[in-house]
Amino acid sequence: MTDVNTFSHPILITGGAGFLGSHMVALCLEKRIDLVVVDNLSNSDLSNLQTLEKHFNVTIPFFNIDIRDQDKLKDFFNEHRFSAVIHFAGLKSVAESVANPDLYHDNNVVGSQNVIDCIKAQGIKNLIFSSSATVYGDPQYLPIDEDHPVQPYNPYGETKAQVEELFIQDEYFKTASVKLLRYFNPVGSYKCIIGEKPNGMPNNLMPYILGVARGEYDFLNIYGDDYETDDGTGVRDYIHVTDLMEAHWSALMDDVIGCEIYNVGCGKGFSVKEMVKAFEEVNQVKIPYQIQPRRDGDIATCYAAVDKIKNHLNWSAKLNLESMCRDAWSVNS
Ligand code: NAD
Ligand code: WQD
Repeated sequence: MTDVNTFSHPILITGGAGFLGSHMVALCLEKRIDLVVVDNLSNSDLSNLQTLEKHFNVTIPFFNIDIRDQDKLKDFFNEHRFSAVIHFAGLKSVAESVANPDLYHDNNVVGSQNVIDCIKAQGIKNLIFSSSATVYGDPQYLPIDEDHPVQPYNPYGETKAQVEELFIQDEYFKTASVKLLRYFNPVGSYKCIIGEKPNGMPNNLMPYILGVARGEYDFLNIYGDDYETDDGTGVRDYIHVTDLMEAHWSALMDDVIGCEIYNVGCGKGFSVKEMVKAFEEVNQVKIPYQIQPRRDGDIATCYAAVDKIKNHLNWSAKLNLESMCRDAWSVNS
């Protein structure tokens, strides 16, 4: 177990202005851990960090750097030392990755290789990478455990699988503590003060429900009610972002050497209709919906086996669907 007092330098949080990265910043501030944020603001702005600065009465060291810019990144690592790196920076839209696979390769894979080169040059040994359940593709069995074949079916998922391999294949990381975290479907907000702020029309379910609740959209499009699930709509493993960050904390504190992959989910699946019902009940807001054809590339059901992370890192999700729906809405209403 790592003792936080042995962190002689700050933690670097790449992508720290984004949805999940800013929640990690919040957790570190709560735990009084020094941190530095790098982000190029390509899918975020400074508002979550500014909210956290006010809330915690601190200044968050922020560097506007594109991780594709090798020279700038090297200069930055030459000027700062870090005890650990949590690498969130990346593009995450499946649809955009299909339209522009080269951009996704360049941003997510080449950018991550640059981060890895700098990590190695400085000799940093405590690392977390944001991977995704997307790497599993269409599940061959449920719940999906970490041994399930990796078979991503879109360029975004391919970039996540490729970056995992960059860590796994590199001899250097056999002497470091590396956690490759495969997130399922994160939702919610940190203590209702910061949340998810997608640019433009949301692709994901919860941000779209929030848009309907705010009156920006007349109804939710439910993509398919003819799946082989109890009510015909798609089933996913939603996880509260607060729980997800606690999983990062457990990963950061674990000093076992080597590269380990962990699913991070609740281990339970909820359908789109169950999400809508829970949201309506807990927030007393009506979410009208219309059934549409299935969305290209969607799968029926996906939920995680979570025994490995429970057994190795002593982490499991605590917050239920009602908390996810309430906290997502309270910061967005
Ligand atoms: P986000 O878009 O809100 O945050 C990502 C951040 O990275 C943004 O602030 C963006 O500006 C920054 N970024 C992107 N490319 C960059 C670059 N080249 N240089 C510097 N900064 C760059 O997304 P998020 O939901 O917070 O996701 C964080 C990470 O977790 C991503 O890697 C994503 O693929 C992964 N992930 C997210 C989910 C999810 O549903 N939110 C699920 C699984 C995995
Ligand atoms: C959930 C369910 C939809 C929107 C994606 C990425 C994955 C990960 C999380 C980053 C499905 C249905 C959705 C809507 C709907 N991100 N839906 N109407 O597809 O499980 O995963 O985000 O790594 O990589 O693929 O999440 O929230 O888009 O969809 O009916 O407007 O909601 O069909 O059943 P998904 P999602």
